[in-house]
Amino acid sequence: MARRAVEIAAAGGHNLMMLGPPGTGKSLLAERLPTVLPTLSSTEALEATAIHSVAGLLPPGAPLVTVPPFAAPHHTSSRASIIGGGHGNPQPGWVSKAHHGILFVDEAPQFGRGVLDSLREPLERGEVVIARSTSTVAFPARFQLVMAANPCPCAKPGSLCTCPSGERRRYLSRLSGPLLDRIDLKVELQPVARAELLADRAFAESSATVAARVAGARERARERLAGTPWRTNAVIPGARLRRDFPVEPAGLRVLGRAMDAGQISARGVDRALRVAWTLADLAGRDRPTEEETSYAFALWAGRAW
Ligand SMILES: Nc1ncnc2c1ncn2[C@@H]1O[C@H](COP(=O)(O)OP(=O)(O)OP(=O)(O)O)[C@@H](O)[C@H]1O
Ligand SMILES: [Mg+2]
Ligand SMILES: [Zn+2]
Repeated sequence: MARRAVEIAAAGGHNLMMLGPPGTGKSLLAERLPTVLPTLSSTEALEATAIHSVAGLLPPGAPLVTVPPFAAPHHTSSRASIIGGGHGNPQPGWVSKAHHGILFVDEAPQFGRGVLDSLREPLERGEVVIARSTSTVAFPARFQLVMAANPCPCAKPGSLCTCPSGERRRYLSRLSGPLLDRIDLKVELQPVARAELLADRAFAESSATVAARVAGARERARERLAGTPWRTNAVIPGARLRRDFPVEPAGLRVLGRAMDAGQISARGVDRALRVAWTLADLAGRDRPTEEETSYAFALWAGRAW
């Protein structure tokens, strides 16, 4: 389930949240995401390289950043180091170092609350604007957000956790609603027994196999989006999405009913529609059916198992 979610995230450029006890492979999966993503286009490579150069991160002998960057700030990071700024000349923050790549927020509830909420603006606009008394600076910051969290502050496996349920709720409530709203895919990871892990080897695919499916889905999206400024489903503005790329009406009705029942926000609907397109691209369909739209809703709501 979690591997599939990573594949969907890669195919459409979607934001992903993984919830699960320690040792269930959250960090492992996040770190593998760049290995199933396509390499950067020449424009993307130039933009990413410029930022890495400004930030003094360009390794010697590597003139161009060609693979999607993977930026993983520590949970003690300040707002300025995430967003950018600082004293003197404004410096690009982690969100910009992750431009055209992944921003991995591991142990998300441990971050300062204001720090995580500051991700909302770049998530929406794909850039950050840093205002100074004399000037303003804009840094590009179009990244894919991957968050990981333990369901509980004690970080013990489910069977050993004795924390009261209020404690667990409080812990996760550090992640604000408006931030979770912007996460397209939410999955819960369960610990696996040793036997399961061994049996799973028979089904395990290499990154190359997954990368090939991701590339196929991205190609389909690119063809559909030809003549628009967008290349992946994740970045199509909501209004254009609904007008120019309608899903099958039955699927739309599923989302409409969920919205009436207060189960999904208007922004969530747009997010689910984008994921539905990615599911169709992965399946080689011309447009999302009710099945794909319903599944996209379940993935957004974190109920897809
Ligand atoms: N389902 C799985 N399939 C394959 N390997 C697994 C699986 N679950 C756990 N592992 C193994 O367990 C190791 C630990 O996983 P990882 O560090 O990614 O866990 P985590 O969920 O990030 O834990 P924590 O919450 O403590 O950070 C991985 O490197 C991997 O070898
Ligand atoms: Mg981890
Ligand atoms: Zn606990």
